[in-house]
Amino acid sequence: MEKRCFTGNFTQQEPLPEAAQAAALRVMQSGRLHRYNTGPGELSETALLEREFAAYTGAQYALAVASGGYALATALRAVGVQPGEPVLTNAFTLAPVPGAIASLGAIPVFVEVTEDLVIDLDDLAAKAGAARVLLLSHMRGHIADMDRLMALCAANGITLIEDCAHTMGARWNGVPSGRHGAIGAYSTQTYKHLNSGEGGLLVTDDADLMARMVMLSGSYMLYDRHLAAPPPEAFDTVKFETPNISGRMDNLRAAVLRPQLFDLDRQCARWNARYHAVEAALEAVPGLSLAARPEAEAYVMSSFQFMLLDWPAAAVAELVARCGARGVELKWFGAPEPAGFTSRHESWRYAPRQDLPRSDRVLAGLLDLRLPLTFSLDDCRLIGAIIREEVGAVFRGLPTAR
Ligand SMILES: Cc1ncc(COP(=O)(O)O)c(C=O)c1O
Repeated sequence: MEKRCFTGNFTQQEPLPEAAQAAALRVMQSGRLHRYNTGPGELSETALLEREFAAYTGAQYALAVASGGYALATALRAVGVQPGEPVLTNAFTLAPVPGAIASLGAIPVFVEVTEDLVIDLDDLAAKAGAARVLLLSHMRGHIADMDRLMALCAANGITLIEDCAHTMGARWNGVPSGRHGAIGAYSTQTYKHLNSGEGGLLVTDDADLMARMVMLSGSYMLYDRHLAAPPPEAFDTVKFETPNISGRMDNLRAAVLRPQLFDLDRQCARWNARYHAVEAALEAVPGLSLAARPEAEAYVMSSFQFMLLDWPAAAVAELVARCGARGVELKWFGAPEPAGFTSRHESWRYAPRQDLPRSDRVLAGLLDLRLPLTFSLDDCRLIGAIIREEVGAVFRGLPTAR
C-alpha cells in the first residue's frame, strides 16, 4: 500500500486578521510610525498595546520593545546584572536566552532539564548559591512546578526573570505565565503566539524596574506618553542613571498586534486542539515518550515534542529521514551540528563548557515540530500517524526492542 505523505508547510502562519491589516494601513497613511510621534491628544498604538497587554496579564506595567531577545537583555540590565556575573538559565532553550546573558558580558550557568522538558529543580537547588538571578525559559511551552520554583528562589534570594516566548497565554495554577517572577518577557516574532514579524513585551509590578526598562528601551524624556508605565516620580533618579539602548517597538507593529491580542485566547485553544490531535496518535507508542503535563499547567502548545530516550543516534537520524521523506519535518536537538533555529549548550561556546549529563541524554532523543494554525486537525492526525508508523518501523529494528 502506498504510504500517505503530508504536504503542508511547517513554517506557514495564518494571514494577519483583517482588523490588523486595516490598522496597519491607518498607521502607514498617518506617517506617524515612531511611538512618540503623536498628534495633539493622540494615544499611540504602542502605548495602547502596552495598556492592553498589562490588562491581559494582570500586570501593573508593560513595555513593548523591538524583539524577545531585546526584552530578555533589558530585563537582565534592569535587575542590575553585571559583566562577569553568573546567571542561571535552562540547559534546554534556544540561542537568544544564553545570548541575552552573554550580551551583558555575564556568564550563563546552565541548569539540567528533566524528562518532562522543564528545568530540573533539584539541579536548580544545587546550583542556587551560584547566582543571584535566574533567567527561566519556559521552553516550548513546558512550565515547571512554579510553586516549588518560587519557594526555591525565595529561600536563596534569587530574582526570577521569566522567558515566556513560548508561553504567552498559558497559566500555572491560574497565574498567567510571566507573572511569577520580577519580570516577564515575551516575543511577538512570527513563530510565536502573536505575530508582528519581530517584537517583544515586558511586564512587571515593580515601578523602579519598569522605569529602568522604559529608559533602557530609548524613551528619551518622553516616558509620560506611556499608558502602562509608572508615574513621572519613578523616573526622577532613574532617568540620569540609565543608558539609552534603543530597542523600541513602533506603531506599525503595535497596530497589528492589538487585534491579535484581542483574539489570543481563542487562538490558544486552536493550537491546543492541534497538539491534542498529534498527542492522541502518539500515546502508548513503544520506544517513544511524552512529557507529563501536570494538572496545574494550563499550557498553550504551538509545537509538539517527543522523546526517543536512549535510542542510538543512527536510529534517531533514520527516523528523522523517514519522517522527512513523508513530509514531516522534525527538528532534532541531538543532531551533531546546530541547524536552523535549533542548537544546544555545546554550540554556545561563548559560555564556559558545562557538564550536563541528564540534559545531554534528554536532548539526544528529543524531537520537535511546529504546529502552525494553517494545519487542520486532519493534518495533525496525519502527522501523528506518520510519526507513529515510522517510529514503529525503526524501533522494531533496534536490538533492545527484541
Ligand atoms: C525560548 C526563546 N526565548 C526567546 C526568544 C527570543 O525571541 P526573538 O526571536 O523575538 O528575539 C526566542 C525566539 O525564538 C525563543 O525561542
